[in-house]
Amino acid sequence: MEQYEKDRLGHLLASVERHGPVVELTGGTVLVNDPAAVHDVLRRTNTDFLVTGNIRRDEVSGVRGDPATEAWMRGRRATQKGMSPPALEAHRAWLAEETGRLCDRWRTRSSVTDPVAELEQLSARSFARFCFGTRDAGAAAPRTGDLLNALTPLISSPFHFPPAVRRLLPRYRRSVSAQKKLEEELRRVLDGPGEGGLVASLAASGLDGEATVRMLVSNGLASYRVPAAAMTWALVALAREPDVAEECAAAVDQVSGDTTPDILRWTIAESLRLWPPNWLILRTADGEQTCGGWSLPAGAAVMISPYVMHRTAPVFSDPSAFRPHRWASLQPAAGEYLPYGIGSRWCVGKALADLELATVLSTLVARFRFTVERMAPLPDVRTTLLPAGLTLGLRPR
Ligand code: HEM
Repeated sequence: MEQYEKDRLGHLLASVERHGPVVELTGGTVLVNDPAAVHDVLRRTNTDFLVTGNIRRDEVSGVRGDPATEAWMRGRRATQKGMSPPALEAHRAWLAEETGRLCDRWRTRSSVTDPVAELEQLSARSFARFCFGTRDAGAAAPRTGDLLNALTPLISSPFHFPPAVRRLLPRYRRSVSAQKKLEEELRRVLDGPGEGGLVASLAASGLDGEATVRMLVSNGLASYRVPAAAMTWALVALAREPDVAEECAAAVDQVSGDTTPDILRWTIAESLRLWPPNWLILRTADGEQTCGGWSLPAGAAVMISPYVMHRTAPVFSDPSAFRPHRWASLQPAAGEYLPYGIGSRWCVGKALADLELATVLSTLVARFRFTVERMAPLPDVRTTLLPAGLTLGLRPR
């Protein structure tokens, strides 16, 4: 436990290297890193392997047939329907303009300390705009940030208190209060003047107001820090590999606005491989289960780490090297590449995330050359995988 707390990623990698693809880390907690077994666990989510935590890691049933799970799955389907190609295409222009404004601010500086924080603002406003169309949702993004910050100490804590004790913790109560404030704000925006956006599509799918608020809270949290982390890791990679950055900038110059050049797509895929922001996916075995020839005890906490998988799966040669061109011909097998997860609970927002990464990064790489001025040797893994102590140097092109 002590070693895990000192360097979580290093410890998980070393465990797999030392003990093989399925490792019992502590009594009842199993790290699964065999690609076929990972694929199997994630495909059997909601039946044999459950998502048993909500955003606060309160226990929930997660089993198909349970009303809360069914309501969540309905909300997921409606959200994914609302992220249709035309809706995303319409959002692209807003994102490009907003990123242009960020570039104008960055042009007056020679470095950016904590770029994640700046990109979080962009990502959160992008989500608010995508959801609420012409309504004024200006306060939703900061309220989401407040909730995320209130949740961080709960989610990152290695200690598991019984639910009755947890509910008494001041940090738990702070997170409940922050969630209430965000929900009130979302209801206010929903009832306010304006039209369009994802919420119109959720209403057309038959989702009621409260189910919509629940989807917006979860999606708002998921779209706040995680895409910003992904963008920042890609900028770090481009700063360290100036030849790839030049190739991306030249390619962006040559294509029209709505096309993502191959080299940029490969750069994004490669940086999500090396630094998947959601570095840990958790499931609970519902009863005794077998997967890929291993048997797991009832109630086992199953840990799947995209970070560990992406650095150990056979398909990735020289796995710790950043080599975007490998994606020109790479065909990962099932379970080998999973930055967005797999199966019935995989990322709801992938389509919006793909659009954001491609649009923001193509604008930034065309406007600046980046360098890494400062970065701590170990990333911050308390919740999302983040570069720690990062300052990026900037030079306008
Ligand atoms: C680069 C950006 C992103 C990455 C790498 C990412 C990755 C992931 C991963 C790995 C999961 C867990 C999947 C699982 O448990 O099987 C997840 C879940 C989720 N993501 Fe994303 N995500 C990103 C952006 C977004 C955005 C922009 C949204 C919303 C607009 C979003 C909404 C969600 C939601 C709601 C879940 C929970 C799904 C469920 O439990 O049913 N994500 N994401």
